[in-house]
Amino acid sequence: MLEVLKQLPADPILGLSTAFKQDTNPKKVDLGVGVYKDEQGRTPILSSVAKAQKILLANEESKTYITPQGVPGYISGMLELLLGKGHKTLIEERVAAVQAPGGCGALRILSELLNRCNGELTVWVSDPTWANHIPLIGSAGLKIETYPYFDKDQAGIRFDDMVACLEKVNKGDVVLLHGCCHNPTGADLTKEQWHKVLELAQQREFLPFLDIAYQGFGDGIEDDVYGLRLLADNLPELIVAASCSKNFGLYRERVGLAAMVTTNRNVRDAIQTQIQSIARGIYSMPPSYGGALVDIILNSDELKNEWLGEVSDMRERMQTLRRLLVSKLKDKGASKDFEFINSQKGMFSYLCISPEQVQQMRNDYSIYFVDSSRVNIAGISTSNVDYIADALTAIL
Ligand code: LMR
Repeated sequence: MLEVLKQLPADPILGLSTAFKQDTNPKKVDLGVGVYKDEQGRTPILSSVAKAQKILLANEESKTYITPQGVPGYISGMLELLLGKGHKTLIEERVAAVQAPGGCGALRILSELLNRCNGELTVWVSDPTWANHIPLIGSAGLKIETYPYFDKDQAGIRFDDMVACLEKVNKGDVVLLHGCCHNPTGADLTKEQWHKVLELAQQREFLPFLDIAYQGFGDGIEDDVYGLRLLADNLPELIVAASCSKNFGLYRERVGLAAMVTTNRNVRDAIQTQIQSIARGIYSMPPSYGGALVDIILNSDELKNEWLGEVSDMRERMQTLRRLLVSKLKDKGASKDFEFINSQKGMFSYLCISPEQVQQMRNDYSIYFVDSSRVNIAGISTSNVDYIADALTAIL
């Protein structure tokens, strides 16, 4: 029976790591999967996380199941990080939430919840969006459409086109928005643009679905949730998928959060049971480890401050690397103006070159990044930036 299924092509993002590992060119550069790297190309365990691991090891007394909702201190800590301490939706007990296996787990169970609410609704995603959004949301059986977001020729957001599209979205449809550090383009909405999105959500009565996987990597922990908090302050309902993979460096521990702002406490209670039953039907209950570490960090003033410092260091390093790449490209006389890289935010930048040029970078120079021209800025270092800039200048 199993032979009826065909071999699939490599994943557009994860497949790059396999190809990179097999490449024997000593000059090869990995700008593919979104993982933070230091100057030496390593992804070290954050110092705050290493300390939390010691505390957990010394105190954990059992490996029995945790509750289906997840680690309580993790959930409350994350909700405060996202919404702000004492946010009215928290005081009014209107937020349902579960710890999920990574941001992907959160996206999937929230999509299943939407399907339970209304299997006919459409989820609108940005064009382009993160490659895995479509399979994650589509596998839950929901229809997906795109709204215009980024103009590769102008290297900027097509906000007027986005607004024109969202003006036609049906009541009850869902609009997926990237909370910050848009993946793959690095192009984020301004504060004014977030206000316009709020106005559209109020007029059209669509439900915003925020995916926030890079809080702290754009402008800062608080600044990066401007849009999320604006919507949570002013809309009756909101759904949020958050990830701790990047800002806590907990990639392999799979730690995320699915949160739903509801209209009142009774709805919250009902939704809480629904989301837990969805999780029970897929993976039963979340792994504890990553959530337990984040709980320890967010609920200790000392460790939280240390972690905030580490997030700032990662953010500032990526901002420095952006400036370095742009100035090298200028110095080398690149025929394209790459200044836009400096205004993009977070871990990714869209180089706005063609898929053929991306292939040429891979084939001729062993520089690996996603076909869309998305590069992981954290993969750049002072030792490879000249090589990258020379290659880009040459292929242009
Ligand atoms: C990425 O976008 O590269 C990361 O979020 C890793 C992934 O799962 O695709």
